[in-house]
Order: sequence, then structure tokens, then C-alpha cells
Amino acid sequence: MKLLSIVGTRPQYVKLKPIIDAAKSRNLIHDWIDTGQHYSPSLSAELIEEFNLPLPKLNLMVGSGTHGFQTARMLEGLEFFLLENNYDLVIVYGDTNSTLAGALAASKLGIPIAHIEAGIRSGNMDMPEEKNRRIVDHISSLLFAPTQLAVENLEKEGLNSIVHSGDIMYDVLQKVDFKTKSDGDESSTFVLSTIHRAENCDSRDRLEEIFRSLENLDQRVFLPAHPRLVQRLDEFGITFDREKIYIFDPQNHRDLLDLVNRSKCVITDSGGLQKEAFMLRKICITVRHETEWPETLEYRWNVLNPHLENLTELVNRESPMEQSAYFGNGHAAEIILREIENRFGG
Ligand code: UD1
Repeated sequence: MKLLSIVGTRPQYVKLKPIIDAAKSRNLIHDWIDTGQHYSPSLSAELIEEFNLPLPKLNLMVGSGTHGFQTARMLEGLEFFLLENNYDLVIVYGDTNSTLAGALAASKLGIPIAHIEAGIRSGNMDMPEEKNRRIVDHISSLLFAPTQLAVENLEKEGLNSIVHSGDIMYDVLQKVDFKTKSDGDESSTFVLSTIHRAENCDSRDRLEEIFRSLENLDQRVFLPAHPRLVQRLDEFGITFDREKIYIFDPQNHRDLLDLVNRSKCVITDSGGLQKEAFMLRKICITVRHETEWPETLEYRWNVLNPHLENLTELVNRESPMEQSAYFGNGHAAEIILREIENRFGG
């Protein structure tokens, strides 16, 4: 069987790793294409190196742009490549514009599609990611749902060919060799924060509101910053106490998880980081109105707080004792490739 993964953003390079390993152990031919949606070294090259990924068959180098422009450039390049090469199935991951373009290109050519992280819903159709994930689920041939709730979301939309695989990010997390052990909540002196979404960064007032709230915390805030955030802070001329909010480049995956592990608490608008905080048993505050990972809200491990109200209290709340195992057993990639082979291999 000849499989092709299509990726192009930071979290997708991370998700690709367990699939590459599992394909190797099953002797499947597996190639990947980089759309080049992310191109800054800290968002792409450094992760590719960290995970020792083989070279992609192609890098489309689409870069940034409006959603239509970005998706269209990917679609054109992907269709050309898929017509020249015979793949039995295309694998797409998550909900980015690279996911949408990969699925659309394969779908138009009648190539089966496996969607990893299917069935995730935030309910907010204003988010580009929500549109992407819904469209991709409805044109995919095989839907790999990370959680039971995701299975139910897909069933409610009348979809079938659903496999409850567990979460591939949990596979990755099981293999991380942490540099430092957690200090425990009491002695952790910093809060880890990431803010990158358009709805939080692209308005001056909104970004100012977030930074003023972070600045007022008792703890120092460590903030590995996405390029979009750095650009907006500069463009809007937002000033803040840089001793209090310490901004640095995005970290490689292991170092980021290490920071989560050592932090007092996580404050983020990232979908992936909410889940990683939960998996590492770290309390989290999500700077959004809704989450696509409602499982993390259990026992208030994660709390939705778009306007960062009562932030000091929330940061200093006690960690819950209990937690359910929502995200599988760390073998999602093996389950995914076994199913792909069973259904399309013969
Ligand atoms: C994308 C995904 C988002 C995901 C995130 C992971 C979509 C619609 N969104 O958001 O779901 O959480 O990746 O990180 O696909 N930029 C750079 N260098 C880069 C990439 C981006 O400077 O390598 C800057 C550019 O100004 C660009 C902006 O960041 O316009 C936004 O980049 P884009 O790829 O559109 O979306 P992300 O915010 O990265």
C-alpha cells in the first residue's frame, strides 16, 4: 500500500511522527508532503529536525496569505502532484488550511482520505478551523475519532466509517523523555502562556486586554510567541513589563512540554496545548468562549475564560485529584494504520 500524508503546520509535524513510525513497522510505503503553510524555522524546520522526519516528497512553500489564496495555492500544487503519483490513500490531520486543501485535492481525484482527529467540534462556525474540520469530515472515507465524544459528534451528523482510535498526541506524549521532572504545583513559580489565534491577536483592544491581565498576575509569565503575536504587538505598539511577561521564540515540542510540566498553570488559546496540559495533569485557562476539547473541562482541569476574569484566583486554584482517560492508550497510530490496511489494503 502506498500512503501519502499531507501536513504543513507546527502541530501537524508532531502528529506525523507516530504515523511514520507505525507505517515503517508495518512495511507500508508512506510519503509526506509539506504544504509550507508554516515556514518560520521555529514553527517548521526545527520540529522536523527534532522528530528526525524523513525529507518530504515535495514542499509547496505556499507561505502566508488570506485563507482563499493559501488554500488555492495548496490545492493546485497538490492536485498536480497527486495526478503524477499513484497513492492508494491520503492522510490528513486536524483542521488547518493544509488539512482542507489536502482533503479537497484527494476528494476531487477520487482518492480515499483518512482524517485523523475527526469529529472534533467547537460549535463556533466563525473559526476557520471549525469550517475546515466539518468539511474534511464530510468528504473523508475513514474517520479516526480521538475520543468517544468525537465519535458521537460524527454519528449525529450522519457519518459512518468511524473508528475510535484514541488521540495521536497522546502517542507522542508517551514517548517524551522529559528534561526536568515537575516541581509540583506549590513550588512552580511561573505561568506558561501561548496566544496565537486571529480573534485574540488581530484586534488591538483584545490583545491589550490579554496583556494587561497577564501582567497583573503574581507569577512571571513565560510566553513562547507565535510570529503572528510578535508582529501584532509591534504593529499595535503594545507595551508591557518584559520582566513580568517574558517573551521568547516558540520552543521545540519536548521543551514546550517540559515548560508545561514545570509551570504553575497554562493560559492559552491553542487547542493542542489545552489537551497537552490535561494529559500532563496541569491546570489550564483557555482564553476563548468555547473549546473543541470539552473533555478537558472535567473537574475544572481546564476553564474557559475569554476575558481573563478572576485570573489570579484561577491560576492559584488547586489541581483536581481525579481525571478520566479520554484520549486512548498511546497506540492510536497503530490502530489507524491497521484499519487503513484492513479496509483499503486489499
Ligand atoms: C494555523 C492553523 C491553526 C493552528 C496553527 C498552529 C489554519 C486556519 N490555522 O494558524 O489552526 O492552531 O496553525 O500553529 O490553518 N506566520 C509566520 N511564520 C510562519 C507562519 C505564520 O510569520 O511560519 C505569521 C504570518 O503573519 C501569518 C500568520 O502568522 O499571516 C498566521 O499564519 P497562518 O498559517 O495563516 O495561521 P496560524 O495562526 O499559524
